[in-house]
Amino acid sequence: MSVRKICVFPGDGIGKEVMREALCVLTTVEEISGKRFFETEEELLGGACYDAHKTPLTEQGLSLARSSDAILLGAVGGPKWDTLSFDLRPERGLLGLRRELDMFANLRPAKVFEPLLDASPLRREIIEGIDILVIRELAGGLYFGEPRGIRMIDGVETGINTEVYSRPEIERVARMAFKFARERKNGKLASVDKSNVLESSVLWRKVVAEVGEKEFPDVPLSHILVDNCAMQLIRNPRQFDVMVTSNLFGDILTDEASMITGSIGMLPSASLGGKVALYEPIHGSAPDIEGKGIANPLAMILSIGMMLRHSFDMPREAAWIEGAVERVLAEGYRTADIYREGHGSKVGTSGMGDLVREAMRQISGKE
Ligand code: IPM
Ligand code: MG
Repeated sequence: MSVRKICVFPGDGIGKEVMREALCVLTTVEEISGKRFFETEEELLGGACYDAHKTPLTEQGLSLARSSDAILLGAVGGPKWDTLSFDLRPERGLLGLRRELDMFANLRPAKVFEPLLDASPLRREIIEGIDILVIRELAGGLYFGEPRGIRMIDGVETGINTEVYSRPEIERVARMAFKFARERKNGKLASVDKSNVLESSVLWRKVVAEVGEKEFPDVPLSHILVDNCAMQLIRNPRQFDVMVTSNLFGDILTDEASMITGSIGMLPSASLGGKVALYEPIHGSAPDIEGKGIANPLAMILSIGMMLRHSFDMPREAAWIEGAVERVLAEGYRTADIYREGHGSKVGTSGMGDLVREAMRQISGKE
């Protein structure tokens, strides 16, 4: 196997801190295997990139991303850059990357780890066994639709965004979602929209249904309105398996779903569909805890697991990582976001990283 080239964007805030741990995990995979699998190259993105180059994403960063076998991203943004004009803000760097590389499907698995059942604000009996996969459309919708902007209309200052979805855009993400649903045990798909109000959703629902009927008649499909879905995720999340939805709805519902798992610091993601795939935690740069060494690195570490599975066909190594995360949680180790007074031992970012690596060595040694 040739060496895999990984483009690394640590980004801003805790992005840099969790990335450090994740890259060590990657090195541990090589140590255990006694082989060199990966070559990493770092680039700036977001606020850090703006500070250095007056743009949140450089041509050089984009071309490194394009020519890599996979991309890892920490997080972008922070109050320091909040006053910049929209095109220059850190988030534009991330959105530019998603769009330029046409990564149209964002996989966000919300899975409850047994030892964290009591870390969730929801009752144990509601969330036990939850394993939901949300597929969020990532390259279209309200995030990118035209017209957009803030302008004067008849003398009144007006902000405009547009939700646009074409048939091919819906078809490709629906197909991807049906495929993932088909691969799961008793897989079923729920498509989430707002078709009682929005035309873009009327088309969404129609096209998802057609793709299902024509190409995936074996996969049970249901449709649910987004407001109801937000409620059902809290009331009875067990009814969901795979979910597919638009860019904006997916952004909101996955933050909600993350709380089922105890913390937003636990959810990894994979952005697929383009030539290269990108892996990132769903959490942000958390400027309030930056530099304190207390951020939870597990979402970033689990994103490495997703990369090994989806981009590099290394399911065995991915299982070491996932198993290690489960083990350290079972042993009671918690970062501040999932810690409860009197239960388990509190550890910091690098402490958690060390524990995961040690557990990986133990798990792989027993194979
Ligand atoms: C996410 C984030 C981003 C988004 C922001 C940082 C632009 O919230 O990945 O969920 O809205 O997509
Ligand atoms: Mg979000």
